[in-house]
Amino acid sequence: MTQNVLDAREIPHESRLETIFAKLKALTPGQDLELVAPHQPDQLLRKVLAEFPRRFDFSPVLKGPVTWRYVFRARTDAGPRTVSDYLAWDHDRLDAIMEHCTKLVGENRFEEARAHMGEFKEGLFRHIEIEEQILFKAFEDKTGMRDVGPTAVMRMEHKDIKEAVNDIVKACEDKRLDEFERGKATLLGVLVEHNMKEEQILYPGTDRMLDDGAREKLVETLLLG
Ligand SMILES: [Fe+2]
Ligand SMILES: [Fe+2]
Repeated sequence: MTQNVLDAREIPHESRLETIFAKLKALTPGQDLELVAPHQPDQLLRKVLAEFPRRFDFSPVLKGPVTWRYVFRARTDAGPRTVSDYLAWDHDRLDAIMEHCTKLVGENRFEEARAHMGEFKEGLFRHIEIEEQILFKAFEDKTGMRDVGPTAVMRMEHKDIKEAVNDIVKACEDKRLDEFERGKATLLGVLVEHNMKEEQILYPGTDRMLDDGAREKLVETLLLG
């Protein structure tokens, strides 16, 4: 989670894009910037992809209804985009939010934990959505495997993951440390291995199946999803 926040609403409209680009350009590899916007910044995201090819990853932190927040990361690898690189970063990003929530709950700061769990849920559900709708589809189209094979297993695990996340959100709302810990244990019981299987098998497998152009295009579609 980043401390480096830029609120686009505070920048005059005529210099907004320029200011955002300047902030992005100032990031050193691995550094983050969180952008707050008054609407879904689709146009901006496309401009970032066009203006700075391969330089930044981004994922939504909050998608409305009043403010939209996106976190940008300057890529550490200047090479071509890969599914592995982007989605493993997104796993790490989400893990960090969960760790922060755990710390807050341990300090009895349930209100704050609740807000961050909201971000975790939104981020993880979106991650699952782009996997199922974009990545798994690409894998299944290439391999012809749908009802059997790795994506079928991943889809089933996604259901368990979502259920556990909803339990954790509720535990934060109810301010129940025991329920939080139980939900988190259930979640990690599935998620740790799930992410490992994706990072070791499914993501690199998909990367290998595609040529450079198709891979780049697929990752851009994931980014915008
Ligand atoms: Fe997944
Ligand atoms: Fe994943």
